[in-house]
Amino acid sequence: MDRSSKGAGDGRGTRPPAHELARYESLFAARTRGMKSSAMREMMALTERPDVISLAGGLPDTTMFAPELYAKLMSQVAAESTARAVQYGPTEGMTAAVECIVEVMAEEGTAVDPAEVIVTTGGQQVIDLVCKALIDPGDVIVAEAPTYPGAVPTFGAYQAEVAQIEMDADGMPIDELERTLDRLAAQGRRPKFIYTIPNFQNPGGVTMSLPRRRRLVEVARERELLVLEDNPYGLLRYEGEPLPTLYSLDAEAVGRGGASDLVIYLGTFSKILSPGLRLGWAVAPRPVLEKLNLGKQGADLCSSAVTQLFVAAYFEDGEWRQYLERLRKRYRQRRDTMLEALEEHFGGRATWTRPQGGMFIWATLNEGVDTTDLLAHSEGVAFVPGRAAYMDGRRGASSMRLNFAGVPEEDIREGVRRIGKVMDGQAGLFGVLTGSLPGHEPAEDPAGAVTEHTAPAKSAGLADVVELPRRGGRGRAGRSA
Ligand SMILES: Cc1ncc(COP(=O)(O)O)c(C=O)c1O
Repeated sequence: MDRSSKGAGDGRGTRPPAHELARYESLFAARTRGMKSSAMREMMALTERPDVISLAGGLPDTTMFAPELYAKLMSQVAAESTARAVQYGPTEGMTAAVECIVEVMAEEGTAVDPAEVIVTTGGQQVIDLVCKALIDPGDVIVAEAPTYPGAVPTFGAYQAEVAQIEMDADGMPIDELERTLDRLAAQGRRPKFIYTIPNFQNPGGVTMSLPRRRRLVEVARERELLVLEDNPYGLLRYEGEPLPTLYSLDAEAVGRGGASDLVIYLGTFSKILSPGLRLGWAVAPRPVLEKLNLGKQGADLCSSAVTQLFVAAYFEDGEWRQYLERLRKRYRQRRDTMLEALEEHFGGRATWTRPQGGMFIWATLNEGVDTTDLLAHSEGVAFVPGRAAYMDGRRGASSMRLNFAGVPEEDIREGVRRIGKVMDGQAGLFGVLTGSLPGHEPAEDPAGAVTEHTAPAKSAGLADVVELPRRGGRGRAGRSA
């Protein structure tokens, strides 16, 4: 049997029934109550279905990577370093991989000291390790609203309280951040870190402006706060001038050609090369780095030596910038296609962001339609409902995240058309139920700013945890077990 060709969909990863869970309930740690399934994980199962057009997930287009190159690089690793490749490696990562990371950081305009880098199992592990190192139950994290749906379950698992600051077209407003910090300070609370995705934010699609970047670094320095800068998409810019990383701005503030002492930088090979490699990294001040290293020892000892050597061979090959250019070209086209399709099928009924790069558009419906419900009725098309980007699952109800990067253009058009069609039905239903007419005022400004939206009221109990709908009419929103 060819095991390698099997995907999911064989029952693994599905949720056990309530009566089975009840048997184990008293054994579970308190932190598991804060754990909820990442919307993205749920979506992965859907994306396996051939009949579903998935605009969900954060998938890059890996069909762009030539099989011949993959075979060549793997053969090179085998010929030159089989024993090292199939061995454990150092927790902090192999020197050959760190050299590639320094090169990518230089492309981002950011000089880093290799001694302050740790190689991780994807960028996701950085979020986990940072929480492991810094968060006790009840500690505060400040994040953007909406925020990366994949960070939501991690913050929940560490029982953090997350203050989410609503973004506009220029990212997180720093005056609002300061007001939030003042409010927290008045309660005697100091956030453990500020979590931000400054470039082509996931899921908002917006980019933090340069003045805000500068001010954020100033605020962090004034108040001695750590910043977790999550930057998977910085090199996927389709228009406009690249902006400096928070890390480099903070390093500048430190002076003497020094390293940042308040920014923890998260990078990844997932979007510029391949998520299947599961390789990311953190650059961090040494005392933090040491804790990340200890946390990683407990998590997985080290990241895969096979994929670190693969990356090293790939960078030696020297074509990585050209590959990136091809990705940019394709994704730019797909972004434009999605923007056109939105105009055609959502026009007048929604607003959406116009990202200068990255992989996502954030669309907000005007008609009081809850996108979690919409998804349940959207047979044949998937997207991430906006609630997944909010810790409490209450806000973001009428928004959705749409991935354009990993989807062929005809599927983008058809997927957006299908969502538009389901919207027709849902908006009509909403109008009948509430006696209101669809099509009233937009919740966002025309510049594409992401602002706070009022969700159709749900019971507080249900809003607490968002469970994504299952296909086939079982459960919609509810408290997960
Ligand atoms: C903002 C952000 N951070 C982190 C990650 C984690 O990526 P990975 O673990 O594949 O590096 C992603 C993936 O989509 C992301 O969008």
